[in-house]
Amino acid sequence: DKGNYRHFMLKEIYEQPIVVAQTLRSYLRPLEEQVALPQMDFDLSAIERVVIVACGTASYVGMIGKYWIESMARLPVEVDVASEFRYRDPVLTGKVLGVVVSQSGETADTLAALRHMKASGVTTAGIINVPTSSMAREVDLLLPTHAGPEIGVASTKAFTCQLAVMAALAVNLARAKGKLSASEERDIVHNLTEAPAAINAALMRDEAIQGMAHVIAAARDVLYLGRGPEFPMALEGALKLKEISYIHAEGYASGEMKHGPIALIDDQVPLIVLAPAGPLFEKTVSNMHEAMARGAKVVLISDAEGLAEAGDDAMATIEMPKVHPLIAPLVYAVPVQLLAYHVAVLKGTDVDQPRNLAKSVTVE
Ligand code: M6R
Repeated sequence: DKGNYRHFMLKEIYEQPIVVAQTLRSYLRPLEEQVALPQMDFDLSAIERVVIVACGTASYVGMIGKYWIESMARLPVEVDVASEFRYRDPVLTGKVLGVVVSQSGETADTLAALRHMKASGVTTAGIINVPTSSMAREVDLLLPTHAGPEIGVASTKAFTCQLAVMAALAVNLARAKGKLSASEERDIVHNLTEAPAAINAALMRDEAIQGMAHVIAAARDVLYLGRGPEFPMALEGALKLKEISYIHAEGYASGEMKHGPIALIDDQVPLIVLAPAGPLFEKTVSNMHEAMARGAKVVLISDAEGLAEAGDDAMATIEMPKVHPLIAPLVYAVPVQLLAYHVAVLKGTDVDQPRNLAKSVTVE
C-alpha cells in the first residue's frame, strides 16, 4: 500500500528515519553505550582481513564499509562486485571475514559468491533484509536490516539500513581489534542514535530539491562527485538517476576529475557535488571550481559550514545537517534519492518499475 504517496519509492524514501531507527535498535545498547552484534560462534578478534561482495547499490555499501573498517579497525578490506568476484579466483587465505550485502538475499551472483567463500573455508556474515532468503539461511552470521519490504526497484531504505548495519560491524571489528576506546564507542553510539533525526532533517529539503529537478531533467549527461565515503555515494547517485530517469550519469572520485572526466564538462552538463565540510572539503571545492570554469552547472550538497566556505558560485545548493562523518553517508543518501525521484517524475518514467530492471536479479 502506497498510502498517500504517489510512488512506493517516495514512500520508502520517507520511511528511512523510522526503519533506520528500527534497524539500529537491534544493534545499539544505549545503557552500556555499546554497539553490539548478534551472537556468533567465531572469534571476531582473530579476523585479519575483510572481503565484501555485493551487487549494485549494495556494493556501494561495501565500498563505504571499506573506508569505515580500514580507518576504525585497521583491517585491510577488499570490495568486489559479485559477478567479478565469483569468477576471478580470489585469494582467500588467512583469517578472512567474507561479508555479503543484499536486500533480497537472493541475487544470483551474490549468492554464488557466498557459496564460493564458504566452500573456501571463509567465515561469512550477511547484511540482508529478507530473513527467510537463501543468503540469510546460509551465512554464518546474519546481520539483519529491518527496512521492511522494499517494493520500488530502486533501492532506497534498504540502502540506508545496510549502511547502519555496516557501521555497527565496523565498530565491532574495531573494538575486537583493540582499536576503539570506550569513550570513542560512546561517541559513536551517540551519533548513530542521532542518525534518524539527521535523515529527517535531510528530508526537509525535499521541496528545494524538487525545485531544481527540471535542470537535471533537461540534461543528457550528469556527473556526481565525492571524496571518501561520499565517493561511493556519488556512484549511488548516478546509478539511482540512470535507473529511474534513464539519463546518463556517472559518479567519480572528486580527485579523478582532471584525469579524464573533465573533458566531458561544458555548460550542458550538471555536476552534483557531495561534500560535507571536513579536512578534504577545500580540495573538492577546487575540483568544483575547475569544472565551473568550463561552464558546469554545479549543485553543491553540503552542510552550513561547507556552503559558507564554498561561497555562492554554485548554481544551486542543498543544505544538509552537520553530522559525524560516520553517519554522513546515511544523510547524503537522501538528497541523491530525492533528486533522482523528482527528475524521473518530470520525465514521466515508471518510477517503481523502470524499464529492463527487476527487483531481484536471480539469474546471471
Ligand atoms: O537484492 P540485492 O540487494 O542483492 O540487489 C542488488 C542490486 O540488484 C540492487 O541494489 C540494484 O542495484 C538496485 N536496483 C539499485 O537501486
